[in-house]
Amino acid sequence: MIRQFDGEYPVFLLDTEKSSYVFRILPTGQPEHVYFGPRIMADSPEDLKALEEKHVFPPGNTIVYDQEHKTYSLEDVCLEFSALGKGDQREPFLEIGFSDGSRSPDFTYSSFELGSDPPDLGELPGAYTAEGKTEHLIVRFKEAAGGLTLELHYALFGESLCRHAVLINQGTEPVELDRLMSLQLDLPVSGLSVTGFFGAWIREMQRNTIRLPAGKLVLESRSGNSSSYVNPFFLLHEPGATETHGECIGFHLIYSGNHYEAVEVSPYGKTRVVCGVNPQGFRYRLNPGERFITPQAVICRSDRGFSGISEETHFFVREHVTRGRWKNKPRPVLLNSWEACYFDISEHRLLSLAKAAKKLGVELFVVDDGWFGARNDDSSSLGDWTANRKKLPGGLPRLAKGIQALGLDFGIWVEPEMVNVQSKLYEQHPDWAMAIPGRAHSEGRNQRILDLVNPAVQEYLIRSLSDLLDSGDIRYVKWDYNRVFSDAYSPSLPPDRQGETSHRYILGLYRVMRTLTERFPEVLFEGCASGGNRFDLGILSFFPQIWGSDNTDALCRARIQEGYSYGYPLNTVSAHVSASPNHQTLRDTPLDSRFHVAAFGVLGYECDVRDLPQRERQAIAGQITLYKQWRDVLQYGRFYRGRNGNLHEWTCVSPDRSRAVGFLFQELSEPGLRNEWFFPRGLDPNRRYRFYSLEQKVDILRFGSLINTLSPVHIRPDSLVHRAIGHFIRQPGETEDYVAYGSLLMAGIKLKPAFAGTGYNDQIRFWGDFSSRMYFLEVLDE
Ligand code: DGJ
Repeated sequence: MIRQFDGEYPVFLLDTEKSSYVFRILPTGQPEHVYFGPRIMADSPEDLKALEEKHVFPPGNTIVYDQEHKTYSLEDVCLEFSALGKGDQREPFLEIGFSDGSRSPDFTYSSFELGSDPPDLGELPGAYTAEGKTEHLIVRFKEAAGGLTLELHYALFGESLCRHAVLINQGTEPVELDRLMSLQLDLPVSGLSVTGFFGAWIREMQRNTIRLPAGKLVLESRSGNSSSYVNPFFLLHEPGATETHGECIGFHLIYSGNHYEAVEVSPYGKTRVVCGVNPQGFRYRLNPGERFITPQAVICRSDRGFSGISEETHFFVREHVTRGRWKNKPRPVLLNSWEACYFDISEHRLLSLAKAAKKLGVELFVVDDGWFGARNDDSSSLGDWTANRKKLPGGLPRLAKGIQALGLDFGIWVEPEMVNVQSKLYEQHPDWAMAIPGRAHSEGRNQRILDLVNPAVQEYLIRSLSDLLDSGDIRYVKWDYNRVFSDAYSPSLPPDRQGETSHRYILGLYRVMRTLTERFPEVLFEGCASGGNRFDLGILSFFPQIWGSDNTDALCRARIQEGYSYGYPLNTVSAHVSASPNHQTLRDTPLDSRFHVAAFGVLGYECDVRDLPQRERQAIAGQITLYKQWRDVLQYGRFYRGRNGNLHEWTCVSPDRSRAVGFLFQELSEPGLRNEWFFPRGLDPNRRYRFYSLEQKVDILRFGSLINTLSPVHIRPDSLVHRAIGHFIRQPGETEDYVAYGSLLMAGIKLKPAFAGTGYNDQIRFWGDFSSRMYFLEVLDE
């Protein structure tokens, strides 16, 4: 609920079920942040007096904003927005250059409006509700010279608060906007920690915590996309916060371009956070009559540690970000041709792969890169979205029909935002690619980025992709993006407006994505950017899932997917089982582990299943059957992290808490530590569950020369005889099966002992490097 108290100066109180957010207008006209914490009760502005900061003297040598109110220095007030120039020297929320050359904006309160219409964000995607209504507060501030209005918007979505800002030029002169953030949060404390998610290609979302006793920490991307270097999602928390305890605030930004998050500790012991479009390289000319709208930033708080934030954030993303027909629909198990074929595809090869995949239970077959133009490697043809007739003589329609005749849905890969110089599109429209006129262009993966600022390019993409999707029964599209900005320059903008390029590119992209997803609501779109190089809530507002990483190694994926799980629900991260040794790390991991990790995402396969031994194909068929039985829980359940480090411990619980799937993964084996527990989380403490694991059958070859401790005759390890025995005989391992109340199970299930070099039988948990288990929990009839 959002309330406004009338007093001498207005006070605004925003309550969710668990939290309250309070700010008030100061006598000087700026909005002072008063409180963000556990839910409080207040009936009048007087009730809030105890919370308010007492301004008696401005500290030290700070600037006094206004001679009539000498007790206020903006430097030491917690503010809802701020600018440089009137005494506050902290990280600014906005920076404006006026036509007289001055740069000290002075906005003071003018009015507010409380309504239920969701904010109008123009081309930007925003949070929504199914009913189309949400509590929405707008507070307006007028600039002293009269021409500008700044609006701060606050909208509540469950436990999450969305904030954005709008700057309106009602004057007669243009202004240059150098930054306008989406959110500023000033907290009256310091010494907090920031947990961010850092990485690179094939190493996305590595969690890192940084304590900030002084100074400033910046998380940002400058590559034109949200980037795998640092995700826009991060946490601010008390230093001792854990998965289950401690005060935390989670921050998200609904934006896919250059983002900027700064956390700064002030000399007077306060912490300021700003989030929004990266001001680096940004300059937007706002002409009279125009407005600039920022993306929405999202915050939520929890006193239950990181898991509390993840729970609220997952709910927010599922309910208020992802949309369309696929929002709540079971996502199909797919086989993707990339790591099976790379560019070497043909109709025959694809059909034969699809046939093998169908036998295993796969539901959707996806032809990845290499099907169009003259594409045999990554040097040509991006932009020419017609089938390569040498590889696909009957084009996509015949391939699609062939795949469908096998009983599979058909999907394709595209990379619409790009063009190769070696392409028909570039020949016809060299001016559609981003490049600085008269200068050499630096390329990435031999390709250039199309100028999506240009409406003609947007129209071309809408038209060519619509034609493609109309040309055959295509049920799925993987939308890739494989290079980042360099020489960022839009040929369609004048030289003095190039500072708008990166932001306008994202607006153009959103227009194309919105048009296509509305026009083809049945198609399942999956985002991708060399893996997770553009994994953010902007993309998820259009595409319900994103390829999490090009790294399909089970160990790396466990870490990467765990990273995503802090801010994104499982069904937004697609994950594939691939070959071993792995194509990115050359690591060998058990097939079971590869499956277990991928099942805690949207499951797919990405390898030549025809080449696998019969035993592995059978195992995969079993995996897919199992996944389909538990898909509703894994894709739409509530996710809980347990311990993480050498062990990764996850539980996914159905919304009614009647079923759950557990996951335990070991990075490296710890010699001699035979005892281990599994701690499920999120169960109903008062209901009885059956907890069980599946039968374990271990490959005899994994025991190497240990086979001779059992065999009456000597067997040379890895000899033909050894392999033949391995083919027929499997070593049974432990199974777990208990019935108990949820409360007891959550106290920790003592598992059967791990193999520790001192004998083994079918009660032993063979638990080597990269081993994992899936556990199942079902409520028994009450
Ligand atoms: C990068 C993607 O992340 C891969 O999955 C694959 O689609 C390649 N591009 C194809 O070029």
